[in-house]
Amino acid sequence: MKRLDRETIQKVIDTADIVEVVSDFVTLKRSGSSYIGLCPFHNERTPSFSVSKSKGICKCFSCGKGGNTINFLMELEHLSYQEAIRWLAKKYNIEIKEHEVSEKEREADNLRESLYAANQFALDHFEHNMSDTDEGRNVGYEYFRERGINDEMIRRFHLGYSMKRNNALTTAATAAGYDEKYLLATGLSGKSERDNSLYDKYRERVMYPIFSVSGRVIGFGGRILSKEKSAAKYINSPENEIYHKSYTLYGLYQAKQAIVKQDRCILVEGYMDVISMHQAGIENVVASSGTSLTEDQIRLIHRFTSNVTVIYDSDPAGIHASLRGIDMLLAEGLNVKVLLLPEGDDPDSFAQSHSTSEIEAYIKENEADFMLFKTQILMKGKENDPVGRAEAIKDIVNSIAAIPDPITRAVYIKDCSRMMEIPEKTITLQVNKRSNELVETRRKRKDSSADIERTEPDNTSVIEVPVDNSLHTEPVADDLAVICRPYETELVKYIVRLGATIICTAFNEDGTEKPVTTVEYVEMNLAEDGISFHNPDLEHTFLAAAELVKTRFRDDSAAIIAELEEIRTKEINDETEKFRQSLEGDIDINKIKVREEQIEATANGNFERAYRDFELSYIYRNLGFVEDSTIMRMVNDFYSDKFVLSKYHTKYAQVPTEYDQRADIIQRAIFELKSAIINHQMKELSETMKSLDRNAPDYNDQVTQLLLELSKLSEIKGQFARALGERIVLPRSLR
Ligand code: UTP
Ligand code: MN
Repeated sequence: MKRLDRETIQKVIDTADIVEVVSDFVTLKRSGSSYIGLCPFHNERTPSFSVSKSKGICKCFSCGKGGNTINFLMELEHLSYQEAIRWLAKKYNIEIKEHEVSEKEREADNLRESLYAANQFALDHFEHNMSDTDEGRNVGYEYFRERGINDEMIRRFHLGYSMKRNNALTTAATAAGYDEKYLLATGLSGKSERDNSLYDKYRERVMYPIFSVSGRVIGFGGRILSKEKSAAKYINSPENEIYHKSYTLYGLYQAKQAIVKQDRCILVEGYMDVISMHQAGIENVVASSGTSLTEDQIRLIHRFTSNVTVIYDSDPAGIHASLRGIDMLLAEGLNVKVLLLPEGDDPDSFAQSHSTSEIEAYIKENEADFMLFKTQILMKGKENDPVGRAEAIKDIVNSIAAIPDPITRAVYIKDCSRMMEIPEKTITLQVNKRSNELVETRRKRKDSSADIERTEPDNTSVIEVPVDNSLHTEPVADDLAVICRPYETELVKYIVRLGATIICTAFNEDGTEKPVTTVEYVEMNLAEDGISFHNPDLEHTFLAAAELVKTRFRDDSAAIIAELEEIRTKEINDETEKFRQSLEGDIDINKIKVREEQIEATANGNFERAYRDFELSYIYRNLGFVEDSTIMRMVNDFYSDKFVLSKYHTKYAQVPTEYDQRADIIQRAIFELKSAIINHQMKELSETMKSLDRNAPDYNDQVTQLLLELSKLSEIKGQFARALGERIVLPRSLR
């Protein structure tokens, strides 16, 4: 796939109308100056999804999702940035121009496209076999019928059949012009060692195509039908440029909308489990396809929901073996529930023998919280076995310590303490110890991985995950990062909304005035105290805003001022002309003067307002639509937050706006971030002090030294506090 031209992207962004786009998915009703409808991101009965045509933004007041046209499409349809732009271009009949990609990119793209094409050919071939050949109908189709799968599921999952004949697919594909190298790379064909001829890898098997998140066929699983013991039960596609087993979840393409709607993903083991559940009306189901869950699969799920239910057959060996894998889900911050099926059932057989409502009721009644379930299993039968108990406790403590959210951790500590009959304090202590170890190892890993070149394949385009420039939104588990996150968030939020406004004036050396933008002010202010961000995603957005304003704002602002001045002049002239004509000979000089002043004041007011809008939306307009998804998401969230707030502003009361109060707001946000850092440093100092060896010969010197540093810090803190009272204080470099 080629990359879209900047020009095309800009045109699409400029053309797309948020109301029109949202209306393709949601029925909207006018409500005052905006539109409102049922939120497509979650189930609701009273509409809380609001769309502002003038601001170009939509937002759910209940679940918070939304954004601009591109965000909206990316989230709702799970498109990548480029896909969303293409979607809009199609809707608005905008001609797509693409730029040439480098030779290397083109080669990689060509290879991938050829693999997709070969797979698509095979998929059509297998489907055709099953519906249009006697063998396919009698063997393949009959097999699915026997297993209770209906035609609709066969179509939805594109199930098929591979012929018994030695090289049915290979012959057809070669005749259709598919190159040998792609047939081999997809694992559709193999090469005979004897005479180098090609043969079909899949023969006399039912075929389960595997789809990417966006619905392209990336591989196959072929299940054996004969009872032959020597052959593998399943043949699966080999790893290649488009298929990475550990990044793939079977059924996700068909399940993703249900997963989002229900905000829950059900995890099962096999192909048939997914299909039978679907057929029974439970559509938010995916399979890890026999492998133990990988971190990448978990991240994939996390893009759609934070809630996972894992279904087990009730075989205890299996449960024990996969407890570990599920710990990984917890560590990724997902809420995990488990569901045990009745003895002897797997999801497939259970779904086949129950109605939708029975299954739903069973899930509701039997779904158990994973951590509590695990505690139960591990502690069972250990009442009189102190060593076993200790081991189980250690295991559970480890799982709890891996959970990123401190509140969730606290809840589990409480629950587990009750179940294991161990004081909460004891568990908390162990959990904290363990989580410190985790932080430490993660930090070490982070440090060392910085030097090593990443050896993983470049799969951003392969798995069709929106490009994320590898910035994680979660903070690294670094103490200071966690402490600073709320303050950094607050600061960046105001930068998005106020970054391009002028916050104060400084003087150049020659005495001329120099207006200072908010983002530049913040940057200098932090730099002077040697403070930088501790959360890479927030820093990334902050730096992008600073860069934007520094390099482009002055030109853009000069251009808009020229434009607005022209409009103002025209407005004054037109209005004055109109007024003069209405005079009809009445020449009361005073009246004329008053009216002309009025006209000028109105025009000036309009000018100010328009310029204010320009300043306040500058960062959003320039960074709210960029391909970098970290920046785009953050800018949209922070910008549309304001839009939510403005709902509560009344038309009648003159509430001072964020803009009016920006000096105070920014000063306070900086102060709070700095204080948080200083408090942390002070805490560390006093801890060092406590750990000093009282008998050491230089004990007194060390204490004095530390006290000195402490008092320095507390003095700085005092300075910050005083500065807060003085409105804007120029950074030294501007004084
Ligand atoms: P199962 O053996 O439970 O098979 O493997 P199944 O899917 O339930 O198949 P049926 O019900 O007998 O038709 C679970 C999953 O493990 C993977 C497949 O993805 C399968 O769906 N698997 C299993 C393999 O990839 N290769 C194998 O040889 C076996
Ligand atoms: Mn099965």
